[in-house]
Amino acid sequence: MVSAHAPGKVILVGEHAVVYGRPAIAVPVWETVARARVTPNAAGRGCVIHARDLGRTIALAEAGGDEPLAAVARATLAHLGLPTAPDWQIDLTSTIPMASGMGSGAAVCAALVRALFAQAGEVPDPATVSDLVYRAEQIYHGTPSGIDNTVVAYGQPVWFVRGSPPVVFTPARPFTLVIADSGEPGLTKQTVAAVRARRQENPPRYETWFDEIAALVQAARAAIEQGVPAQLGPLFDHNHALLQQLGVSTARLDRLIAVARRAGAAGAKLSGGGGGGNLIALVDGVSAPAVRAALLAAGAPRVIVTTVAAQPFPVA
Ligand code: MEV
Repeated sequence: MVSAHAPGKVILVGEHAVVYGRPAIAVPVWETVARARVTPNAAGRGCVIHARDLGRTIALAEAGGDEPLAAVARATLAHLGLPTAPDWQIDLTSTIPMASGMGSGAAVCAALVRALFAQAGEVPDPATVSDLVYRAEQIYHGTPSGIDNTVVAYGQPVWFVRGSPPVVFTPARPFTLVIADSGEPGLTKQTVAAVRARRQENPPRYETWFDEIAALVQAARAAIEQGVPAQLGPLFDHNHALLQQLGVSTARLDRLIAVARRAGAAGAKLSGGGGGGNLIALVDGVSAPAVRAALLAAGAPRVIVTTVAAQPFPVA
């Protein structure tokens, strides 16, 4: 038996603009993880994936080409030069909230890829994991930028520009985020399509907003690398205002973001595709408990506190 895991993630700054070639920063969230376990199956039973949290069992020999988990498993087996459906049982579990912008689909697939490599006696490099997971992301999300598969595969803060190799970078000082679920499901596929449609009606306006986001993403990287994470607060606020203009926030996200700011967060924004899903708030040791409590009292069904720090990918 072998097992492997991968973290959840949040996008710090730059979502949506990243689809149009601007940079974005994403960080892993190790408080939530996806796990994959591979055990040999009885001879002749083929490869069966049990995705317990999804309540699904997938026989690899029978699954269609649009089944994300099967697509990733097949691509990984082909990469390893293995039979198309070896007699293996794969159990997938995850504590990453689904449809919240925390990359649960990408993380489950990354854990699956790493476990298949482990079962074959190999250790994949993060770029290979990321490439293989991207195939599932295309099925889940249509035209993803690739940031979600990248951050869960590398397990480190990443600076991401579509089409370029990701840059893993290290915070000079740790900083803490409160991540709150708005209680509305995130709608990444729909919001990405809606932004595309609106941009087509007025490309110059949207390009200006995307450039403004790119500039604040640059400033956020400098703040993190120079060890002044407090400067992220106003950058979160500015990014959220631009995401509102892009039309991807909701009244509920806006209300919870205001609650987080009033409770002492240095800045707050939606994180991920929007249309629901998560918000993130920048906090410190003093404000973290108050912001967490205020968000729960205001109706956020789940709140996670995470510290972003230099950290190697923890072993399974
Ligand atoms: C989704 O986590 C982030 C978006 O920028 C979409 C993408 O990058 O593919 C909204």
